[in-house]
Amino acid sequence: MKTIGILTSGGDAPGMNAAIRAVVRTGIYNNIRVMGIKQGYNGLVNGLIEEMNLSSVADIIHRGGTMLRSSRSDEFLTKEGFQKAINVLKVFGIDGLVVLGGDGTLRGAKALSEAGIPTIGIPCTIDNDLGYTDYTIGFMTAVETVVDAIGKIRDTSTSHGRANIIEVMGRHCGDIALYAGLAGGAESIIVPEMPFDIEQVSRKAIQGRNRGKLHHIIVLAEGVGNVYDISESLIEQTGIDTRVTILGHIQRGGSPTVFDRITASEMGRRAVELLIKGEGGRTLGIKCNEIIDLDIIQALDIKKEFNKEMFETTILLSI
Ligand code: F6P
Repeated sequence: MKTIGILTSGGDAPGMNAAIRAVVRTGIYNNIRVMGIKQGYNGLVNGLIEEMNLSSVADIIHRGGTMLRSSRSDEFLTKEGFQKAINVLKVFGIDGLVVLGGDGTLRGAKALSEAGIPTIGIPCTIDNDLGYTDYTIGFMTAVETVVDAIGKIRDTSTSHGRANIIEVMGRHCGDIALYAGLAGGAESIIVPEMPFDIEQVSRKAIQGRNRGKLHHIIVLAEGVGNVYDISESLIEQTGIDTRVTILGHIQRGGSPTVFDRITASEMGRRAVELLIKGEGGRTLGIKCNEIIDLDIIQALDIKKEFNKEMFETTILLSI
């Protein structure tokens, strides 16, 4: 292995920069050239590639976003675009690839592996929606951001005696809502994985009010449905003045937490070491606090399981 390429694709996630730094530095330490591919798979298809050195990754471990930039590439998904990407790798003499991103990105890594390019995936997405790993890089930072927002919204909720619904990201996965809702002491958590009954949510709001609780925080995962419809129903059933906050892309930014920085650093190092050993077609993960690597085809077939026990804890503790 003489030259490896690295790219970040899809929605950015805090901790991507820490992983890039680890890949570049582990590569250079092992006398490997590291090529930075800009703007995700778009940059791969169009040859937006530059060699990286020790200083290109200085002062980035603590920064959110991705210094390589990102994209959601439609061109890479076409037969012609994919072939262009393979040709670009040959032209630049890249004989191994490290790809950082979520489900869609890792599916691209799987396709490249199947086409004979030794490729290693690093799971980076705030959504935590991959079944084969306990956590994805960026998730814990996003949860911290949401918990911080819940605290601030609770202050004003109490002052005005309102109900506040906070919509969080996660696509079809309710993990951000679940973890942040539990850590932030939300009264109700609504996720796509569990059935929900608006009457029960309303009952809880009224019961809280009756025993003198001034605030009422509902954390809703974006995959559930229209937050304004839910807000309307709550107002109709309870008469409580209700406000909606859609946290949006604030959840994707910010300095990564210690957990995300360390996981990203360990995974970045392991990715390069796997390529050196001649092992492509694998993806990294974390299980029971240990960094693992799995066959990428099998890994992506593992269905994400929702943590029902944690969800029950949230119900139990918010009576
Ligand atoms: O996958 C990460 C994510 O932030 C999702 O939670 C969200 O649904 C989506 O990306 C938003 O994508 P975009 O930034 O392209 O609007």
